[in-house]
Amino acid sequence: MPERFYVTTPIYYPNDRPHLGTAYATVTADALARWHRLRGDDVLFLTGVDEHGLKIARRAEEQGMTPAAWTDETAGWFTDAWAALAVTNDDFIRTTEERHIRAVQRFTQAIYDNGHIFKGEYSGWYCVACEAYYAQSELAEGASCPVHKSPVEWLVEENYFFRLSAFADRLLAWYAANPGVVVPESKRNEAVSFIRQGLADISISRTSIDWGVPVPWDPDHVVYVWYDALVNYVTAAGYGVDDETFAAWWPSVHHLVGKDILRFHGIWWPAMCMAAGIEPPRQLVVHGFLLVGGEKMSKSRLNQIDPVALAADVGVDALRYHLLREVSLGADGEFSYEGLLARYNADLANNLGNLAQRVATVVGSKCGGIGPAPRPAGQGSRLSAVAEEVVREACIAWERFAPHDALAVSWRLVRETNAELEVTEPWKMAPGPEVDAVLGDALEALRIVTILASPAVPAAAAEIWRRLGLSGAPDDPGRAARRGGGLDWGGYPGGLAVTKADPVFPRRTTTEQSLGAGKR
Ligand code: MSP
Repeated sequence: MPERFYVTTPIYYPNDRPHLGTAYATVTADALARWHRLRGDDVLFLTGVDEHGLKIARRAEEQGMTPAAWTDETAGWFTDAWAALAVTNDDFIRTTEERHIRAVQRFTQAIYDNGHIFKGEYSGWYCVACEAYYAQSELAEGASCPVHKSPVEWLVEENYFFRLSAFADRLLAWYAANPGVVVPESKRNEAVSFIRQGLADISISRTSIDWGVPVPWDPDHVVYVWYDALVNYVTAAGYGVDDETFAAWWPSVHHLVGKDILRFHGIWWPAMCMAAGIEPPRQLVVHGFLLVGGEKMSKSRLNQIDPVALAADVGVDALRYHLLREVSLGADGEFSYEGLLARYNADLANNLGNLAQRVATVVGSKCGGIGPAPRPAGQGSRLSAVAEEVVREACIAWERFAPHDALAVSWRLVRETNAELEVTEPWKMAPGPEVDAVLGDALEALRIVTILASPAVPAAAAEIWRRLGLSGAPDDPGRAARRGGGLDWGGYPGGLAVTKADPVFPRRTTTEQSLGAGKR
């Protein structure tokens, strides 16, 4: 049954260009959105930028620009990068947009009217890079930020506070009633144990800066950047302006977030929703970090990799495939250029690319370039049974937010089809029904794999599809759910002209270039 699938990435700080870590998150959300469109779901895929707050204001100042001029320029870095990586977001939100400012004010006002916001004085250690306060006990050595290891600042402010402490029981009850609300489970446990340790009220406004959304009942204050940012997820779903749209998309939302921002999404955000009188989100999908040399990418460590330069070097599909296939969602993963090329050669050049190439070649030499139809399921080759199993398992993996497993299992069909060709050696046979049967099955397996692979390698999938002589595209909305021409065996009609051309994934030598190719 088609469903509504609303998926979000965090909104990124446009203080610097996107790096491979943020590309990883965005490409993952994109693959999930693409999968759900394939299933026929109605999809809303949202990403964007988080433009307010001290971090952006200071960065703009360093550049001699106003924050508004700075983010007008840098928001474009993100839209450009995502377009270059074939990301198909349906909406791109900037927190400086009027629609968002109004939503933040409406949302905050609702919480205030419901009696969950009060005025008080706040003092504490503040990390500008995190835009977060830390308790003394949380600081790293030398009174520095536990994440950035940079000096923290002592800030004293009169603020409005959100009574987060009053939501501990409701949050725990929500976690108990919805066991799958945070995946993986280890992250759910982390959030629950954090709540059990006791929640402090949080300061949600600032008077020290004016780069933010004015608090509606006291415009000398601006809303704290995290509080402002989290609201983006409801802004884009029409909160407060279009009740019908909002009811359609909320709360069936899946927030893809990095493990470092679990506390904001797993505790603050559901409590904020409860306080504003709306349902908390359906699910948080927490991913780990991409590491370079064992460390998280960051500007201060100069280990950032520019994903657009890297894609220009290795190919967009190659980069996307590597990001999705290499690391299982939730775990940290080490990124290396050598690892990317090794996987490219193994999975894309030697497996999928080679299969497409050899099938087209043999259809050319033995069938006059016209692809024969496959045998009906269960009659002849064992590939139909393999395909059925692969499709079942890949669908399950996508549904549980495991692109890594979905692609691993999909490639089983590629390997087994290649193996079948090696055993039967159709290139040595005389043209006739036997060759037709073997090649028909191989074409059909390739057609199915092309659909399954399309969320990861959309351009190559479309190209292979075209070479098979098929009409439409492998990622036509709803194709995976279709009877005939979808993921069921037997969709390749036969009688189509199969095109042979240059390899879709040419082999690369692993010593060609170094990681420097993608490094700034
Ligand atoms: N603006 C906030 C999010 C607000 S969402 C309402 C923010 N922005 S961020 O630009 O600093 O980071 C955004 C996301 O990028 C986080 O989920 C973080 O985990 C992710 N990543 C940053 N570096 C990363 C890696 N090296 N690897 C994987 N993800 C990484 O936080």
